[in-house]
Amino acid sequence: MGPVPEAVTTRPGYVRRFTVTERIVHWTHATAFFALLATGLVLYLPSLSVWISRRNLVKNIHIWTAVAWAVALVAVFVVGNRRALRDSWREVEALDRDDRRWLVGGKAKQGRFNAGQKVNVILTVAFAVLFAVSGFFLWLGERNTTYRLDGAVPLHDALMFASLLLLVGHLYLAVIHPSTRHALRGITRGDVREDWAKKQHSKWVNPDQ
Ligand code: HEM
Ligand code: HEM
Repeated sequence: MGPVPEAVTTRPGYVRRFTVTERIVHWTHATAFFALLATGLVLYLPSLSVWISRRNLVKNIHIWTAVAWAVALVAVFVVGNRRALRDSWREVEALDRDDRRWLVGGKAKQGRFNAGQKVNVILTVAFAVLFAVSGFFLWLGERNTTYRLDGAVPLHDALMFASLLLLVGHLYLAVIHPSTRHALRGITRGDVREDWAKKQHSKWVNPDQ
């Protein structure tokens, strides 16, 4: 396990949850995801076929959004706080015994990220890579039939459904569920109440307990 950064106080009673870089990564990814989802659904759903004459336009927006998404993320990695991203990734990778217990429904103390959040990060990254690879082959296959892969469309579609399910759960916890929705402050303003953090992520703010 890598070093777990200690909770830093930002103002009395508040601790820093996310650096600016982490928040920019989150909102860049979320914005691109919503644009890709909306345009992807138009390409997918026959009921939106009134748009058919505009299909080419929608497709171009879909593809250019994907390009912008990749460029923006690379740019954030290049100019942003890579150390913060690396440290967070190390925490995410380290699924300990408490996390495994938590995942099977047991009670266990959680670190800065709970086990569900760790799994959410891992799935989000894996899905993004698979979206990009299958999307790239969809694009390439249209230009050169040698690269037309039978699996690309089903994979791309399955990823959309899987990530929609994940997103519904994510949004419920982020904006509705009373005990977790305070997290919204962390991903927007960067800090959260210390007492909330102690309760939700006790191994993060009380590392020696
Ligand atoms: C790097 C990311 C992505 C790339 C490069 C990409 C690329 C593409 C391409 C080239 C197509 C084929 C367009 C056509 O010929 O009709 C397509 C279709 C589609 N994309 Fe994406 N895409 C990406 C991400 C996403 C995401 C995040 C979603 C949804 C959450 C999504 C949903 C869809 C859907 C539903 C279709 C229609 C597939 C069908 O006809 O069944 N894509 N995408
Ligand atoms: C309006 C839309 C969204 C809201 C309000 C939102 C809210 C949040 C919040 C509050 C957190 C921080 C949780 C914590 O304290 O650790 C977070 C983290 C995260 N979000 Fe979002 N999010 C949105 C969209 C998305 C989208 C579209 C994706 C991916 C497709 C995504 C992926 C993630 C991931 C991977 C994390 C870190 C792990 C986790 O906390 O689950 N988010 N989001």
